[in-house]
Amino acid sequence: MLKLGVNIDHVATLREARFRGLGYGEPDPVAAALACEAVGAHGITAHLREDRRHIQDRDVWKLREVIKTRLNLEMANAPEIVAVALKLKPDIVCVVPERRLEVTTEGGLEVAGNLQAITEMRKRMNNAGIEVSLFIAPDPLQIEAAARAGSQFIELHTGSFAEAYHEDPQRPDELNRLIAGARQAHALGLKVNAGHGLNYQNLPLLYKVPHLVELNIGHSIISRAVTVGLQAAVREMLGLMANYRGGTE
Ligand code: PXP
Repeated sequence: MLKLGVNIDHVATLREARFRGLGYGEPDPVAAALACEAVGAHGITAHLREDRRHIQDRDVWKLREVIKTRLNLEMANAPEIVAVALKLKPDIVCVVPERRLEVTTEGGLEVAGNLQAITEMRKRMNNAGIEVSLFIAPDPLQIEAAARAGSQFIELHTGSFAEAYHEDPQRPDELNRLIAGARQAHALGLKVNAGHGLNYQNLPLLYKVPHLVELNIGHSIISRAVTVGLQAAVREMLGLMANYRGGTE
């Protein structure tokens, strides 16, 4: 079954729009996480950014305490955030680029050019019992490097696919790159997640992508929640994802 990790960053974005720097405020991303879990979300994703623009430290500690599913901490490979992760012990970290030099042309993490640093970080996480996922473009070079780094998962960056879908839902090129990337990663022994820009319209196209384990979805679910409520929005997404048959469509 294809799993859903709900990214709750934008609940915190809304709170920070009014309560920045105050240490309290609404809406509460932790309450949102619990609401998502209650209707079947398989995990909760939060990105503790170096600039703390949305999720705050207190959010991740509270999440670690209360959520019953899996906590996926998105993070840059930056010493301060690595130290937080090693103490927090999320179930998994998804390493993402935050700085220009860490970004590949397609917007994912530059693993090939930072292999040693990423491999060292990966070992420290694994030694602390934390799994590692690397957020990368569906680029053969980066996928190969992720395997060499010893990562357990990759998260395929679906941003270019989402943009291509917006331009023309029939455009096959970006979808084909995801299919090829998932095949390559699977053959190298990597588990495959995907995320960024996925929504209720473009999601059914992912039925064609093989080997997917989990999708991390934030903006579209939180946006839909404004009109139908968070739990209805999560249920609708889970309903669409239930049609995934492992890429055999
Ligand atoms: N996965 C990763 C690694 C991300 O950085 C993001 C965006 O924070 C997402 C998934 C979720 O993207 P979206 O909010 O567009 O669903």
